[in-house]
Amino acid sequence: MPGTIDRLPDLEIPGHRPSRPDGADHPMRVMTRRAAGLQPPPWDARARHEVAALFDGLAPEWHTRTSPERARVVTDALDRGQVGTGATALELGSGIGAYTATLGARFGEVVAMDLSLEMLRLAADGPGHRVLADAHRLPLTDASVDAVVLVNMLLFPDEVDRVLRPEGCVVWVNSSGESTPIHLMPDEVVEALPGSWTGTWARAGTGLWSVLRRA
Ligand SMILES: C[S@@+](CC[C@H](N)C(=O)[O-])C[C@H]1O[C@@H](n2cnc3c(N)ncnc32)[C@H](O)[C@@H]1O
Repeated sequence: MPGTIDRLPDLEIPGHRPSRPDGADHPMRVMTRRAAGLQPPPWDARARHEVAALFDGLAPEWHTRTSPERARVVTDALDRGQVGTGATALELGSGIGAYTATLGARFGEVVAMDLSLEMLRLAADGPGHRVLADAHRLPLTDASVDAVVLVNMLLFPDEVDRVLRPEGCVVWVNSSGESTPIHLMPDEVVEALPGSWTGTWARAGTGLWSVLRRA
């Protein structure tokens, strides 16, 4: 059963523009819904290879998709979502690590995990253990992290639920809101996750975020 997700006021971020007008028919949007179990067929080896190859190819130019305005969406989620300091954050789909240092400032340890070796290779040195893995099968024990952070990343609901500690939180960010290829509205994230969740969500610039905790 879904819990209550309270909407907070929008945050204006001057100069924040969506990277491009992608929408519901984008192949990664379809993949997003498949990964979340909201649409068949389920995630499989073919999907894994396709997505890894796509992001390996995009890795060299991924830095052009980062900006202070996009980073502001993430810090707004952490601040207004009241994501306090904790022992361990798991950053799934960490890409070239654009947000890993931000998480490193709040958590004792950050595990930055990605399916794309090329993305991980381009990540700057700094806080965060970089791990090559498919988030569909996380190489982590049950209830082992305080926060699962997904910035423009596919949601694999059962694995997120499995590795998150009972008091932990899920941080879901779409940098360009509904124009983000990997996008779900907060109520869809809650629908996809097992059990009952509560939390907050907001729009920040053209982005949106939600921070969810078990109800
Ligand atoms: C849209 S990019 C976002 C990267 C970064 N979070 C950002 O916002 O700049 C999605 C990232 O998720 C990774 N990814 C996609 N599917 C994954 C999976 N099943 N397991 C782990 N990482 C995955 C991709 O390789 C890519 O680096």
